[in-house]
Amino acid sequence: MRLVLGIESSCDETAAAVIEDGCRIRSNLIASQIDIHRPFGGVVPELASRQHLASIGEVVSQALRKAEIELNDIDAIAVTYGPGLVGALLVGVCYAKSIAYALKKPIIGVNHLEGHIYSVVFDNPPINYPALAMVVSGGHTSIYLVLEPEHYKLIGHTRDDAAGEAFDKVAKLLGLGYPGGPVIDRLAKTGNADAAKLTFTIPHIAEAPYDFSFSGLKTAVLRYVKEKNLQPLEPGQEPTEAIRDLSASFQQAVVRTLTSKLVKAAKAFHPKTLILAGGVACNSLLRATLEQEAEKLQIPLHYPSPILTTDNGAMIAAAGYPKLLRGERAKLDLTATASLKLHNVDIQELQKGKPRYRLS
Ligand code: KG4
Ligand code: ZN
Repeated sequence: MRLVLGIESSCDETAAAVIEDGCRIRSNLIASQIDIHRPFGGVVPELASRQHLASIGEVVSQALRKAEIELNDIDAIAVTYGPGLVGALLVGVCYAKSIAYALKKPIIGVNHLEGHIYSVVFDNPPINYPALAMVVSGGHTSIYLVLEPEHYKLIGHTRDDAAGEAFDKVAKLLGLGYPGGPVIDRLAKTGNADAAKLTFTIPHIAEAPYDFSFSGLKTAVLRYVKEKNLQPLEPGQEPTEAIRDLSASFQQAVVRTLTSKLVKAAKAFHPKTLILAGGVACNSLLRATLEQEAEKLQIPLHYPSPILTTDNGAMIAAAGYPKLLRGERAKLDLTATASLKLHNVDIQELQKGKPRYRLS
């Protein structure tokens, strides 16, 4: 049995988890900073770093306690080293390095996006490769072809806002608070998407057919708000019918965009598994719509349970596990890399000589 301590601090959640053999959760602790950032309508990087510093010791201690182990019982520490807010990442990285140095334990650097993809190992059957993974969060909206474990090819990404960022910005405009995704998801359930017609077409970029863009949709919402003279909600005010309808209409447009790109990529790349991950993967309409599309495509769809969709340490430990088995180790000069990339595969290179995958 191998125990990995996963540490995550890339944005506004200080998280630690203990995972047994890569896929059994012994503990999964998340200290959310949402209340600290809410008055500002978004994450304030400096406040995030300070709060990570204040919380990380206790979060790790609780994760160990919940797992009923001592620090010395862990076999390795996996820590997010990017992408994310550099000051926030540094807290987790430095904390992990201190433990590694003091206890002479191996340390493994994990890409946050790879962590999100690994969040599906807990509640789903094993992934059949190649897989197509859509990571939709507050900072990212990308589709990766996962040819085999740890081999990623970026297929499409957002040209402007991430999907979660669009939810958060629209929620701010409508006075719905932060983070916007969960509130819009809830309000949309009682709204009528057809009642608030947004003039918006799904952007299609000829040379990059799987790329996303959400800035046009954001502008469409802004235009609609001005035309209808919609007033943002005051704190404590009940959501009006107009705001509920607009929430439903906006959410439907985001879901349509995400779904159309993923389905198009699935038809081109013939994956054996579809993966939906990242904070926006919590969205109920997105889950339901992709379930239907996956059914039509006859490709199994894997997504994490809600607690594992937003940032957590369990997914980081899970992503670190295959690296531990392979003997990959970070050195003590591991540092935060704010714009760390995930894609690392050249398909042509990989297919030279012996094509293993049927692509397009
Ligand atoms: O993965 P995550 O916790 O952090 C990043 O890595 O960015 O994702 C946070 C994002 C936020 O933008 C939040 O509004 C969005 O995920 N989100 C949702 C829902 N729950 C969280 N978006 C739409 N529907 C939801 N139910
Ligand atoms: Zn994330």
